[in-house]
Amino acid sequence: MDLGDRISVERGGTTYEGAVMPSRREGYVVIKLDNGYNIGFDASKSRISLLQKRQESRKIKSDMALPRREGLPQVSILSTGGTIASKVDYRTGAVTSQFSAGEIISAIPELEEIANYSARVVYQILSENMRAEYWIELANKVAREIESGAEGVIITHGTDTMMYTAAALSFMLKTPVPVVLVGSQRSSDRPSSDASMNAVCAASVAISDIAEVTVVMHGSTSDDFCTIHRGTRVRKMHTSRRDAFQSINQPPLGKVDYLSRKVETFQPYRRRGEAALELQARMEERCALVKYTPGSSPDILNYYIDKGYKGLVLEGTGLGHVASDWIEGIKRATEEGIPVVIASQCLRGRICDRVYDTGRDMLQAGAIEGADMLPEVALVKMMWLLANQPESFAALIGQPLAGEIAFSTPITV
Ligand code: DGL
Repeated sequence: MDLGDRISVERGGTTYEGAVMPSRREGYVVIKLDNGYNIGFDASKSRISLLQKRQESRKIKSDMALPRREGLPQVSILSTGGTIASKVDYRTGAVTSQFSAGEIISAIPELEEIANYSARVVYQILSENMRAEYWIELANKVAREIESGAEGVIITHGTDTMMYTAAALSFMLKTPVPVVLVGSQRSSDRPSSDASMNAVCAASVAISDIAEVTVVMHGSTSDDFCTIHRGTRVRKMHTSRRDAFQSINQPPLGKVDYLSRKVETFQPYRRRGEAALELQARMEERCALVKYTPGSSPDILNYYIDKGYKGLVLEGTGLGHVASDWIEGIKRATEEGIPVVIASQCLRGRICDRVYDTGRDMLQAGAIEGADMLPEVALVKMMWLLANQPESFAALIGQPLAGEIAFSTPITV
């Protein structure tokens, strides 16, 4: 009997069926039941029969031929990995990235009622392994899909760094069609998986009128709706809840009702066809987001300056502060042509360095207030501006380019 084999176990008059999982206890056998839960048995007190040997995992095809239905819009799915493309690996018991975009589609039959799809695997990674060069490649691939006639693009992505990729694509691409990032917090072989509902809602947004980069994820703890977040305003705010994603400093763009698949919008947005496709896919990687903590050494700033970094975002306290002994470092950076942008650890609200002395000194030293931008969005914007329009950095860092800044914040967010 090998890991992954399907077996039946008879114990006390009841028969259980499932796949063999790794067991840490000698003489015990653990199986994963079809409902996703694991159960262990003392092998000496159970009757075990082999039902089926483990199926070797299918080879992943990068381009799957999918059935076409007349009259449905054409949507491209690019998969990059993460939980939505994962299942439990029965050899290790860990969740690993295993599905291609095509396999995700075949596993969710409801998707076929919404659009025709072409599916490509771009990466098969957990999103903590994403990096700027992958954002660039992804942006190029999205642009290619749009040029080839895609009426919407879905990117399946790990949730951990989805907000960075969403922000990067928001700055790199001006899109005439929806570009939707989607993921899941629980893999599809778990009973509470959010993979299928999120994918169905993402497809509904991909054929909608919202021609922006968005993140579509569970909106509540139930299976009732998904929220549509603007790519530059979204953040993962919980490690494990299915409704982990929230729009910060701006209400969500809208929602998708899971049952009716109706898309409802709450905010102005760029409409389908309103903009021509534009791609500016360069990123300055030598930028850092530095979190200030009480008592931390200003040498941290000198480290980045000495290492040749080109820009720094400081995640300051409250309205945007660091200790007075950091001011000299800010001054040194800005004098050496390294912009220093201030964001807040509060996440919600806006930077105002004009209220307290420290803030005023920071501004005097050349720091730039990051308005109501999320710290990671300020970082990605800095990386993009320094690579694409360095001469306009000072003029544009505080201006909204992709919905990342607003000059007033509704009280409800
Ligand atoms: N580490 C995670 C990632 O790929 C897996 C979890 C997820 O996709 O939600 O971001």
